[in-house]
Amino acid sequence: MRIDSENGVGAYISEIDLNHLNPESIAELKVALGEYGVLFFREQNMTSENHIAFAEQFGRININRFFTPLSDYPQIAQVLKEAQHSTNIGSAWHTDHSYDQIPALGSILVARDLPKSGGDTIFASMYAAYDALSDSVKEKLAGLTAVHSSRHAFGIDAYKGQAKSERKGRLGNTDAATQDAVHPVVIKHPISGKKAIYVNPDFTTHIRELDEAEGNQLLEELYEHCKQEKFSYRFAWKDGSVAFWDNRATWHKALNDYAGQRRLMHRITVEGVPLYGA
Ligand code: OGA
Ligand code: MN
Repeated sequence: MRIDSENGVGAYISEIDLNHLNPESIAELKVALGEYGVLFFREQNMTSENHIAFAEQFGRININRFFTPLSDYPQIAQVLKEAQHSTNIGSAWHTDHSYDQIPALGSILVARDLPKSGGDTIFASMYAAYDALSDSVKEKLAGLTAVHSSRHAFGIDAYKGQAKSERKGRLGNTDAATQDAVHPVVIKHPISGKKAIYVNPDFTTHIRELDEAEGNQLLEELYEHCKQEKFSYRFAWKDGSVAFWDNRATWHKALNDYAGQRRLMHRITVEGVPLYGA
């Protein structure tokens, strides 16, 4: 196994076949995931069974409540944009499942049907973003907690004004969008022990200890900081590409720049552990 990381945001893992891994390689991958936040693999040849078997090495599989699964494999969620759709899934910066009390460790996304060009995913390192904060901001964040929710993102209100045809077959189960959770604004990463910013524009609603105006301003400033290009890496998918990201160390967003073309990804989400402040 070879690990290459150009800027510390994610790493390419080569000389590896994800369908044939021994326990030592699994342990190495887990450490690398904690270190780099997202692992990229090329030229893999995973069936759905392989995808599930790979995921199970890292924890229990979380069955996503909102994404349409494959009919034969409920563990696998489809992340789909049809040629006639205008919206894509995950277009704003976010980290999956932060609204859960025990948020998912991460997801393993396998490219199944790619547009001819476009459809990259950008990942941002919340380690790098944290490290670059000034000492006074780090001090201000210490001890703060934030509320995260799925209600505004996956509940019925999330789709007001959006054509029903855009949602059909892709996202649903709006009644299940009842999760709220409180997490530290800065967490100690469960694998690496490093400090990471753990708020995100999609799911975080407010900071508990501050009044609304002050909290919102702090969140906006943090988001502007985290969005800087120097903390991010843009991954271009190819047939056979796989990405495994850690939700506790990264944000991600899916670019929507392939109008008129189809894009289908298969996603498996792996359960995580409770999060604690740094
Ligand atoms: C996701 C997601 C990004 C993409 O599956 O959680 O945000 O590029 N996907 O499809
Ligand atoms: Mn996502």
